[in-house]
Amino acid sequence: MATEKILITGALGQIGTELTNRLVEIHGRENVVASGLDRYDQNLTSAGYYERMDVTNTQLVRQIVKDYEITTVYHLASLLSGTSEKQPLFAWKLNVEPLINFCEMAREGLLSKIFWPSSIAVFGKGIPKENVAQDVVLNPTTVYGISKLAGEKWCEYYHDKYGVDVRSIRYPGLISYKTPPGGGTTDYAVEIFYKAIEENSYTSFITEDTFMPMLYMEDAIEATLKLMQAEKDALSVRTSYNLGGMSFSPKELAAAIEKKQPGFTISYQPDFRQAIADSWPASIDDSVARQDWGLTYKYGLEEMTEDMLKNLKEKLK
Ligand code: SER
Repeated sequence: MATEKILITGALGQIGTELTNRLVEIHGRENVVASGLDRYDQNLTSAGYYERMDVTNTQLVRQIVKDYEITTVYHLASLLSGTSEKQPLFAWKLNVEPLINFCEMAREGLLSKIFWPSSIAVFGKGIPKENVAQDVVLNPTTVYGISKLAGEKWCEYYHDKYGVDVRSIRYPGLISYKTPPGGGTTDYAVEIFYKAIEENSYTSFITEDTFMPMLYMEDAIEATLKLMQAEKDALSVRTSYNLGGMSFSPKELAAAIEKKQPGFTISYQPDFRQAIADSWPASIDDSVARQDWGLTYKYGLEEMTEDMLKNLKEKLK
């Protein structure tokens, strides 16, 4: 089998940092090129190469793909939901156009595989809250959700029309300690851990009984690798696969933290992100991903809470 040469965009971001380091473990430093807008940081990435690049610069990206003879792209650069509402036109540009650029390169034979992250934000208003199926009608009301739905349709279009092998996951809220996330609605579930350790209390911008689907980063990374390693013919979904993870509310998460850290308190001051959360599902049916490529998880609420507190305490020391 020919060696895979991998390019990751958004490589110093929340998913990118951890995915890059896993890809280095699997493929070797010399086969992994990390890229992003930020300055290179050797503490964050173990990739053999780092390119400081604006992913909306079509010509530059194309040149980098050619120079390194890239075969596989994990295109993670994206604006999350809260930030997208504040910069809608830029969100559209960043979240959609570079994906099309990579699909074009694959169509021309420059790339053989692409991974692109979608989100539970594609579902939107009027869709049942619980156990939302893979193929429900999608009705996003946020800029972020609209951009992710459009991206999913581009993935399917390039696959069906040109045979481009682009694969995608609808990630739920992602929880991790290595790099903080930026600007997401589900990010209360990360912030809460920082505040728990620093102040033993947290003010949530999401109300106590709002349930959202969430996933611990390690499970998200393993799922991504599994999808990318699956046989082409096993994949029945060419828009983006549902991933459910776990489902909990701020109140439940606070209780799980309080169990490990007595005295922890939470209060609530919902902001504009509450409306975004209200338009999203509470839980997701991911049976198609389980059937097609063997999706499994290691972490539930208790295990995730324990691991987050332990590792974040260590990091913040
Ligand atoms: N975590 C993301 C957000 O809240 C959802 O995909 O924006």
